[in-house]
Amino acid sequence: MAQTQIQTRDETTIDPIAQHPGFEETESKVAVAGHPIHAMTVAFPIALTFCNFGADALYWWTGDVFWARAAVWAAGMAFLIGLAAAASGTLELLLVPGIRARASSWTHAIIAIVLLSALGTNWGYRLHGYEAAVLPYGILLSGFCVIMVGATGWHGGKLVFDYRLGTSNGS
Ligand code: HEM
Repeated sequence: MAQTQIQTRDETTIDPIAQHPGFEETESKVAVAGHPIHAMTVAFPIALTFCNFGADALYWWTGDVFWARAAVWAAGMAFLIGLAAAASGTLELLLVPGIRARASSWTHAIIAIVLLSALGTNWGYRLHGYEAAVLPYGILLSGFCVIMVGATGWHGGKLVFDYRLGTSNGS
């Protein structure tokens, strides 16, 4: 009877990215007293993008020009504060070795750039006649921005709460 020989080997998987010098260095460098500026600024474009969509929906429902004017302001501020948030995020990405080394940080940057392009288009489109711009393309654009800001914010949260990027190591 043939005997089955089971060979065991000590197999250790080595992640070459984790060998990168500074891989464990993930603490924020763009911060005020240890509090990351990116985390402080992202709340504004997120909230304003939702306000923009809400104002478009209320304009559609009521026909009141007040909502079309509120929508153009929300769209503009979402874009401009979004640019400021992206500037602090980009500095973190480039300056912090442990953030720079992780692919997920770059994924977040790419999603965010798609979002910023949509926010800029949405605002620019409304500047030459904000009332006429709402239906149908304004609300379609603001709906797309809501989806993209949700994806960007959710992914940013993953970077912080799952991978602990930007956080202090507690020492
Ligand atoms: C090119 C642009 C961007 C880059 C390179 C970037 C990069 C980063 C990085 C490295 C983090 C980890 C935390 C830190 O180090 O501060 C982060 C977190 C985050 N990002 Fe971005 N980001 C960009 C734009 C945006 C935009 C436009 C938004 C949303 C409007 C956004 C939403 C978030 C959120 C919600 C977090 C989690 C913050 C927390 O809850 O503490 N990011 N981002």
